[in-house]
Amino acid sequence: MPISRSARALVLPADAEGIREAAAVLRAGGLVAFPTETVYGLGAHAWDAEATRRIFEVKGRPADNPLIVHVADHGGLASVAAAVPPLAQRLAARLWPGPLTLVVDAAAELPAVTTGGLATVGVRMPAHSAALALLETAGVPVAAPSANRSGRPSPTTAAHVLDDLCGQVDVVLDGGACEVGVESTVVDARGQAPIVLREGAVTREQLGLDGVGNGEADLAASPGTRHRHYAPRCRVEIAPAGLGPARATLLARGGDLVGLVATGEAGPPVCQLARFSDAAELGRLLYRALRAAEDAGVDVVVVEAVEPDGIGRAVMDRVRRAAAG
Ligand code: TXA
Ligand code: MG
Repeated sequence: MPISRSARALVLPADAEGIREAAAVLRAGGLVAFPTETVYGLGAHAWDAEATRRIFEVKGRPADNPLIVHVADHGGLASVAAAVPPLAQRLAARLWPGPLTLVVDAAAELPAVTTGGLATVGVRMPAHSAALALLETAGVPVAAPSANRSGRPSPTTAAHVLDDLCGQVDVVLDGGACEVGVESTVVDARGQAPIVLREGAVTREQLGLDGVGNGEADLAASPGTRHRHYAPRCRVEIAPAGLGPARATLLARGGDLVGLVATGEAGPPVCQLARFSDAAELGRLLYRALRAAEDAGVDVVVVEAVEPDGIGRAVMDRVRRAAAG
């Protein structure tokens, strides 16, 4: 049973019936927003050029920014790749399903609109039961960027998707809040060792890249990192660990309406948007807090820094991008 119906966004619970309906929409060339362990994706049949073209239109996404193709199982990689390099095989065996996108040479017939005109394709098998059930039921690879309008924080709930895309997607599959909240790590898996193109939820330690300089990205190789990203409509300021409440209180005395995301608390007039205890928790709630800041109409959000190692590395990447506006 649909929960609610809007112009053209049908919100369905991510149960067996909702997944069946959403899978049929995907097969028919429609757009389906669905939950993954990282963020919500805006999915379309990866082999259907007209369907993936709509993703770019709806998101306002630059045409040269390729889409990640989501697959239901390890075999799905070979179905969209020209060949599966040994490194990709090994990483998939070890870290899939999970928040790791493997960039490999694309199958020649994959539509250019899906790959952003590149000869490569990013592929991932998400670690989320509803996403996997959707992919399996659809029986096709699903191209899916994050389900936000371009330049907005990624959505971690179905409500965030509706805030950005209501009336422009055919189905929103509601699977509750995303567990990780930070996007997948994108690695070039064509060589001897992984090259990180975008920091993400799989850490360098997990990739075996603890050495300094190992796997450093040539960022020009990942089109998405060139574009403006993760920008909320208010200012974002980074405070040193533990000093968020003090900085927020100081700014508030200056007359700004100040939001705070920190390990500690500040009383009024500071608007405490979220409290976290470690980097993983900040990752889980960062985008939600940035969206809440906009809804509350704050002038500036103070976000406390975490150590940039482990998951903290990707989390601080996102915090810095938000602060860069
Ligand atoms: O966790 C995630 O990755 C989420 C969920 C929905 O899976 N998806 C996501 O997609 O974050 P998107 O489109 O918002 O970000 C994909 C990033 C972009 O920076 C894009 O440029 C890069 O991955 N990318 C995709 N295919 C690539 C390729 N063939 N070569 C280099 N970079 C690629
Ligand atoms: Mg995105």
